[in-house]
Amino acid sequence: MNRTVFTAVGSAVRYSRIAGTGGYLPARRLTNSALADQLAARGVETSDEWIVERTGIRARHFAAEGEQCSDLAVAAARRALEAADCDAASIDLIIVATSTPDMVFPSTACIVQQKLGVSGCPAFDIQAVCSGFVYALTVADSMIRTGAANKALVIGSEVFSRLLDFDDRGTCVLFGDGAGAVVLQASDTPGLIASELHADGRHVDILCTPGSIAGGQVRGDPTLKMDGQAVFKLAVGVLEDVARSVLVKAGRSEADIDWLIPHQANIRIMQSTARKLKLSMEKVIVTVADHGNTSAASIPLALDVAVRDRRIRRGDTVMLEGVGGGFTWGAVLLDF
Ligand code: ACO
Repeated sequence: MNRTVFTAVGSAVRYSRIAGTGGYLPARRLTNSALADQLAARGVETSDEWIVERTGIRARHFAAEGEQCSDLAVAAARRALEAADCDAASIDLIIVATSTPDMVFPSTACIVQQKLGVSGCPAFDIQAVCSGFVYALTVADSMIRTGAANKALVIGSEVFSRLLDFDDRGTCVLFGDGAGAVVLQASDTPGLIASELHADGRHVDILCTPGSIAGGQVRGDPTLKMDGQAVFKLAVGVLEDVARSVLVKAGRSEADIDWLIPHQANIRIMQSTARKLKLSMEKVIVTVADHGNTSAASIPLALDVAVRDRRIRRGDTVMLEGVGGGFTWGAVLLDF
């Protein structure tokens, strides 16, 4: 059987490539000290020193009242479209990775589509918590490779501030709001080289927001719950394994990685991953200090920061790694 695939871009094999990146952080920036002051007013004790030492976080951004996940997503998407030098009308697939959608339904991706003033192309959300962007990028890449799409907007957008229990100092100091986006388009050269996704639902309980809606009421507790130490242990193990596995798939080695962009949850997890992969921290893009953990937005936001400050350049090899609730994890290796 002839398996050759002839494509719209005119080559026998079709790949996907990032054409532009964008990011958006809400205007309201809260340093650790400012957050600590606010928490002290409700009798919750924390400090800049504790937060910096355990997590590397120094500040986070919180969305304004009424600012929705889709608003952040659209702002990041517009910047990615501008960087890719293309119109929203040329996009034929929209995927939003989020765990904090505007509504139960429709999807935030449909709301983003409406706010961008376009219609017709498929638009849907992916919910894989902090691994969401790596999941979304892998799905978009698959759709582009099969010819189901030519140019995709892939967005990670979160308003995690809405899920936080500000009486729980073990979690409320960790998260922030933001959005990152890429335009992923068909190409006759790679692009995305290899990726791998995983989940293990046996660990649902260690990181979850267990509330739900029924009969017009919130049922259960709709704030974020986390067993920090269990998450830490699982995260460092799977991030090493999935990076190695993706490198093997790609026929490359650790030495080929120019830049590592791990999910920005905690500097200690990133340092441990870099150590295991024998990468200097100079090759790791770190934005957790300024952004906190923005869940599905953290990787595309970090990518955008490093592209705009010209650390990541065309042709560089970049490893993206996500890990989060589910438990979910995955990695993408790409030539930028
Ligand atoms: N300020 C001051 N003290 C605090 C705070 C705080 N914000 N939070 C907890 N403490 C106290 C605890 O009450 C405890 O006090 P005690 O010893 O008197 O009981 C002490 O600090 C130690 O608490 P632990 O929870 O054991 O602290 P740990 O060293 O494990 O650090 C942390 C907690 C930072 C959450 C860590 O477990 C971690 O980084 N886990 C990884 C989880 C993560 O990054 N999650 C992000 C989301 S998951 C994801 O994105 C993959």
